[in-house]
Amino acid sequence: MPTPTSANLSRRDFLSATALVGSGLLAGVAPTLLAQTPPPTPSDTPRRRRYAVVGLGARYSMYRNAILDTYSAHAELVALCDNNAGRLALARRKIRKKTGAEVPGFSDADFDRLVRETRPDIVIVTTKDSTHHTYLIRAMELGCDVITEKPMTTDAQKCRAILEASHRTGRKVIVTFNYRYSPPRTQVKELLMDGVIGDILSVDFHWLLDTHHGADYFRRWHSQKAESGGLLVHKATHHFDLINWWLSASPVSVQATGKRDFYTPAMARRLGLESHHERCHTCPEAAKCSFHLSLAANANLRELYLDQETHDGYFRDRCVFRPDIDIEDTMNVSVRYDTGATLAYSLNAFNGWEGYHIAFNGTKGRLEHGVQEQVSVSGDGSVPGALKPEATYIRIFPLRAPAYAIPVREGVGGHGGGDSVMLDDIFSPAPPADRFRRASDERAGAASILTGIAANEAIRTGQTVEIATLVPGLTRPDYTPMPSGTDPLPMPPR
Ligand SMILES: NC(=O)c1ccc[n+]([C@@H]2O[C@H](COP(=O)([O-])OP(=O)(O)OC[C@H]3O[C@@H](n4cnc5c(N)ncnc54)[C@H](O)[C@@H]3O)[C@@H](O)[C@H]2O)c1
Repeated sequence: MPTPTSANLSRRDFLSATALVGSGLLAGVAPTLLAQTPPPTPSDTPRRRRYAVVGLGARYSMYRNAILDTYSAHAELVALCDNNAGRLALARRKIRKKTGAEVPGFSDADFDRLVRETRPDIVIVTTKDSTHHTYLIRAMELGCDVITEKPMTTDAQKCRAILEASHRTGRKVIVTFNYRYSPPRTQVKELLMDGVIGDILSVDFHWLLDTHHGADYFRRWHSQKAESGGLLVHKATHHFDLINWWLSASPVSVQATGKRDFYTPAMARRLGLESHHERCHTCPEAAKCSFHLSLAANANLRELYLDQETHDGYFRDRCVFRPDIDIEDTMNVSVRYDTGATLAYSLNAFNGWEGYHIAFNGTKGRLEHGVQEQVSVSGDGSVPGALKPEATYIRIFPLRAPAYAIPVREGVGGHGGGDSVMLDDIFSPAPPADRFRRASDERAGAASILTGIAANEAIRTGQTVEIATLVPGLTRPDYTPMPSGTDPLPMPPR
C-alpha cells in the first residue's frame, strides 16, 4: 500500500485523521500525512471537495443537485464531461441558469485535460456501463478518487483492470449501492445481524420488473450485452450486492438459465402489430402500441435525448420488439456462497407489478420481505424506484412459534428512500459511524457484478462457473459480523 496522503485517504480516514492531528494524537506517527494536511483555519474548515462528473444523462442530475444544493457547503462542481456535445452544453446551460456559475465542459477525448486544468479531488462516473472502467482507471492514474454508478463495470476483464488500477494507485473507489441505504432494506440487515432468525442457510429471491420500467431497458444501450452486461449485470448488480451485504457473504459458484421470450419480433405480431419497427419517434403503428414512448411529449426526455441525438445517434426510444436485442427478459440463477448459504434467484422483465419477494431461511426461522415499487420511466421526471408503503412488508416465521409482522421503516424518495441516505454518507463532511457498513468499495463492486458475469457465462456455456476463474484472489469486502454458523442453538418448542 502506498503511504497515505491527504489526497488518497478515505473521507472518513481524512476527517478522523484531521481530528487526530488537531488533538496531537498523530504526532510522530504519520509524517507524510502531517506534512500534507494543512491545519484547519476558520475560513476553510474543511475545504470544499472538488467534484467532476462524467456522463450527463438521467442519473447525473441526482449528483448535480447534491453538489449544488444539499451539500454545497462541502462540495464544489468543477467540471463536466460527456461524449455528446449537446448534452454537455445542456448541462452547462442548466447550471448557469440555476446558479449563474460557469462550469467548464470537456469532451470525452479531453478527459486528461479536464483533470489537469480543473484538479478534481473526486471524479463521479455516470456514463453508460461499458465505459465506466475507462474513466475510473484514468481518473485514479491521474490522482483522483472515484465514485461510480453501478454496475462498476460489465465484464471480468474490465473488472480485473479496475481492481489492478485501484491497487496500483492506492486511490479510493466508491460504488454507489443506493439500495443498501433504503430504510426497509437496512432494517432487514439489522434483523439478520441481530440473529432474529439465526444464521442463514438459504435464500429465495424473486425480482420483477413491470412493462413500463422493465420495458425501458429494451429501448436503449441496456438492450445490448456489450454495453450493459445484460440485466444480470446492469440490474441484478443491485440484487446480488444486497445478498452479499445482507449475508456478509461472497459468491463462489453460479449456475444459470436465461431466455428472451417477451420482447421479440414475434411478440409484436402476437400483440396485433404488423411488425417491430426502428423506434417510437417514427413508428407507423404508434397509435396501436401501448409500449410506445413519446420523447417529444415529455419535456425532460425531449431536451435530454431527442434534441441531442443528432450529435451521436443515440436513440432513447428504440422499439422494444427489435430483433437485434441480445439481453434476456427471463433469468434464473443459482448461487453458492463462501458461508455455505445458497441462493435461488429469478429476474423477470415483463410483469404486472415491479418489486420483489425475498425469503431468508435461517436456523431459528424464516424472514420474508417484499416491496412493490411505483411505476416510473428513467429520465421522464418520475421518482425512480419509489416504494408503495402499503405493499412493503417484513414478516418473521420462528420455528414452531406464531409468525409476526415487523413494522417497516418508511423509505421516501428515489430507490426506496436509499438515494438521499446514501448521498448523505457520500457528501456530508462527517457521516456517523455506520453499524451496517453500507459504504461500498471496488471489492463489493466486483463481488456484485461477478455473480451476473458468471451467470452470463453459465447461460452461454451451460456450465457451472466458479467466481475465482473470473477474478482470482478477490478479497472479501469489509462485511459486518453475522450470527455464527457453529454456536449451539436453542431446541425449538415441540
Ligand atoms: N443506482 C441507480 O439506481 C441507477 C439508476 C439509474 C442509472 N444508474 C446508472 O447510471 C449510469 C447512467 O445511466 P443513465 O440512465 O443516466 O444513462 P443515460 O443514457 O441517460 O446517460 C449516459 C450518459 O453518458 C454519456 N456517455 C456515454 N458514453 C460516454 C463516454 N464514453 N464518455 C463520456 N460520456 C459518455 C451519454 O452521452 C449520456 O449523456 C449507468 O451506469 C446506470 O447503470 C444507476
